[in-house]
Amino acid sequence: MRAKWGSKLGFILATAGSAIGLGNIWRFPYLAGQYGGGAFLLLYLICVFVLGYFMLTAKLAFGRVAQTNLVDGFRVVGERAGQKVSPVWGWLGGWIGFITGLLIAAVYIVVIGWTLSYVIEGGALFLGLSRHPIDEHLFERLVASFGYQLFWSLLCIVLTTFILVKGVKKGIERVSLYLMPILFFLLLFLVIWMIFLPGAGRGVAFFLKPDWTRLGFTATGFDASVFFNVLLVVFGQAIYSLSLGMGVVFVYGSYLPQQTDIKSSARWVVGLDTLVAFLSGLIVLPAVFVFDLDPGQGPSLSFVSLPLIFAQMTGGRFLMFIFFVLLFLAALTSLLSICEASINLTMDMLKTTRTKAALCVAAVNGIGVTVILLSFTNIIGLKIGEENLFDFVNRVTGAYMMPLMICVCCLFMGWKVYPVIIGNLGQGSGHQSKTFKTYLKWVLCLLAPAVIVISALFQK
Ligand code: PHE
Repeated sequence: MRAKWGSKLGFILATAGSAIGLGNIWRFPYLAGQYGGGAFLLLYLICVFVLGYFMLTAKLAFGRVAQTNLVDGFRVVGERAGQKVSPVWGWLGGWIGFITGLLIAAVYIVVIGWTLSYVIEGGALFLGLSRHPIDEHLFERLVASFGYQLFWSLLCIVLTTFILVKGVKKGIERVSLYLMPILFFLLLFLVIWMIFLPGAGRGVAFFLKPDWTRLGFTATGFDASVFFNVLLVVFGQAIYSLSLGMGVVFVYGSYLPQQTDIKSSARWVVGLDTLVAFLSGLIVLPAVFVFDLDPGQGPSLSFVSLPLIFAQMTGGRFLMFIFFVLLFLAALTSLLSICEASINLTMDMLKTTRTKAALCVAAVNGIGVTVILLSFTNIIGLKIGEENLFDFVNRVTGAYMMPLMICVCCLFMGWKVYPVIIGNLGQGSGHQSKTFKTYLKWVLCLLAPAVIVISALFQK
């Protein structure tokens, strides 16, 4: 018997838990800082509601029709639609999704490891148990220590495996039901604190008011290359944030009871995910402006600058603790989903139990993390070109593997099995309006693949 979600709320929170993660709280604010604040936000909102929501909806239905793992899913759903399906679909969509999941899990765990160490650091400072200064070398010191990072990462693997072994309903769903409300509470608390800092207005304006030149619209004309460059980043972020580039949404959809309405659930998930990204921008960017730092500095924004900001604020130690707890909770529920997708396929392929599959995935994650951490150090100094493995994996999965996988899924859903997908969206045999049907088909057959191909061509 395939596992099932216990309730619609549980499913929505677990899927939102997957979507809301490092992508929202860490990546979104620094990308918005780099790519022009309001302009980036506006394009992001358009991308999510014009494309992302529809892709998410279709993929949930794809999973629900399939009722199996992603590799076999292509064949099974193809048969349902009366189509002969070449195994190439399963390899491209399923196996690439699986490998991407394992690679991203390793990167994700390393970052969660950093987050955990910051939680402890912030907590210890707050309680007066630590005298470590929070300075610009905090992060450097952390990354220089292989053993310390490995410890936190392994702890994180143990924790996730412990939850995942308990299953879909008793593990993932239950944890999400508890953690997601806490996450929202912490988020609101921080937003309110940050936007009322004296001088925060400039940061809020930067984030909310689009500067059209950043999208390529200048007084003298329109610069398409600027626009496409931002679009590419925005679209990549939308795919990542909605957990679309691997088997996660498919697998979560396959645990859905047939009577659950997919469209309304997807609206909730997309709405919550976008709200959290928006609020995270409101936490990070105003603070950056208050303390006159550079909003466009990139990935180091949360791990290097934010602690410096906290160090200068009244109550900053406490806030630092809260911020990293928030980041940790968000990332944990996402990691659960990434690992669940891998476990699901492993169980089927090795014909084994959930516990054994979870242990296999944990072992592979452990190896992945160790190799990545080794590449930070001089011990074996693994480098690919100029990049360490962390950057390499991040770039290759984000720029090529996730887009390829989602492109294969969209083409398959749009061209091969569309009637089955559309027939499975609503409650039971739910009837969809003609406009919706036509638009979704356009998104799957053409719009989403076109944006992906254009993005790949423009990739620097
Ligand atoms: N959506 C997650 C985030 O925003 C990342 C993720 C990607 C999770 C793909 C699962 C699958 O951090």
